[in-house]
Amino acid sequence: MKKGTGHPQSGIGDELGRERKQQMESIWTKQTCLQERQQLKEDVSVETAVLGGGMSGILTAYFLRKKGINAVVLEADRIGSGQTKNTTAKITLQHGAIYHKLIEKFGEEQAGMYARANMLAIEEYRKLIEEKNIECGLRMAPAYLYAEQEIGAELLQKEAEAAERLGIKHAITTDIELPFSIKNALKFEQQACFHPLQFLGAVAEEVTVYEHTQVIGVEEEEGKQVLACKEAKVTADNIVVATHYPIFNMPGCYFLRLHQERSYVLALRNAAALDGMYYGVEEGAYSFRSAGEFLLLGGGSHRTGDNSQGGQYQKLRKAAKEYYPKAEEAAAWSAQDCMTLDGVPYIGTYAQPKPNWYVCTGFGKWGMTSSMVSAMLLSEKITGEGTSYEQIFSPQRFVLSASAKTLMEETIEAAKGLTKQFIVPADFKAEEVAKGEGKIIEWKGEKLGAYRDEKGTLFLVSAKCPHLGCQLEWNPEEKSFDCPCHGSRFRYTGELIDNPAQKGIERGKENSFFSCNRSTDVVK
Ligand code: FES
Repeated sequence: MKKGTGHPQSGIGDELGRERKQQMESIWTKQTCLQERQQLKEDVSVETAVLGGGMSGILTAYFLRKKGINAVVLEADRIGSGQTKNTTAKITLQHGAIYHKLIEKFGEEQAGMYARANMLAIEEYRKLIEEKNIECGLRMAPAYLYAEQEIGAELLQKEAEAAERLGIKHAITTDIELPFSIKNALKFEQQACFHPLQFLGAVAEEVTVYEHTQVIGVEEEEGKQVLACKEAKVTADNIVVATHYPIFNMPGCYFLRLHQERSYVLALRNAAALDGMYYGVEEGAYSFRSAGEFLLLGGGSHRTGDNSQGGQYQKLRKAAKEYYPKAEEAAAWSAQDCMTLDGVPYIGTYAQPKPNWYVCTGFGKWGMTSSMVSAMLLSEKITGEGTSYEQIFSPQRFVLSASAKTLMEETIEAAKGLTKQFIVPADFKAEEVAKGEGKIIEWKGEKLGAYRDEKGTLFLVSAKCPHLGCQLEWNPEEKSFDCPCHGSRFRYTGELIDNPAQKGIERGKENSFFSCNRSTDVVK
């Protein structure tokens, strides 16, 4: 059996960052050590450079290599260190109650493309795991959407009709394993789940990956793409941007059509094992699935940077206690997902003026299946084979009825974040930040992010997001500063946690700081 091999992981950031990171590790991270790869130190020339060593990037490079294309992966940190390690790792074409909406927005033909691509993705995972004998806990299992209220039950009836029209095998049932009563559930047979990092580690063995190799710029020279990394350059015919949130703002303007959402997971020991995977369609509902000895309980979705509801882990813990009173918490972590305007991922050409750039992003909560769809689609596109389901995922699509309202909402959110940074004064002073609290404060005429630890030390960072300048918001749940515009996140000590920002916010010691745009300007 193939397994990811390795050695202890190297941490990122300082001691505080490491400590925090370990507390919030997923069960996948706790159980896996992936082989470390070299940093790129010499210039190389390849046919395709894939940016990002998550599931979509590794799979894309793997398929390209199988098709005879010389491809390398450039990963800024470690493989699987982004969202792949935080997924609940369901492989399913049941993406919430999406199919009736897809038929309404795009018509039956394109909705069928979406379903077919995801069916193929499940099959491709199964084939790959079997062929390569990868030990990654693959388990075929039914997936259920469930409803506790009448309104949700009606929605599921509608979704069942859409599934029927699209030829998806389904059944409406009330026969489920959850510890509470429901109105009804919609079941899709033969879906799957697995251990994402064990799978990733095994596939990555057949791919050339450079870790700790951040791409800091790209230029076109004689029809080739030249990627500048810290210590070397990569010249490529094609590039694939598989960095979760696309790292190049222009062209493509993905910052206008993507936002990020956070959600939370508990891994419970001593909770009844479930055969099926469950996802509630009503607001505030939970998701459930077993993973070995653990039951994964997920929920609490909200826009990154909007922490107005608060207490997401607390709510999950309350639910865990109610549903599984004998269970113990083995791990707690969060995930961050990119959401598109119309709910369908962007997979294809990055932007019309750049025919040799490709992108995959906006997988919503369905990263594993969408990663496989991306890898199949992009590898076929790059080799010129063409696919039968490309149109629905095209990043250049713009269906007015599907996108206009959300485009307007995105613009309003970004405008709010920018206005807050430049016009609205901070509400607090440093002395008003209590132990264990974080706030945006006014400090000698500047607006800063402040956090005071339990010992009383005050940490100060710039409150301005280095991506496009929106004001950061304090996230009390995870002690980070998060950007409501596009979802970049930073530790209170300043290091970058999540993109699209490409650098952290510089920081200083107690009662001093480095402004992100004025790194020489140290205030004491
Ligand atoms: Fe875009 Fe912060 S993530 S401005």
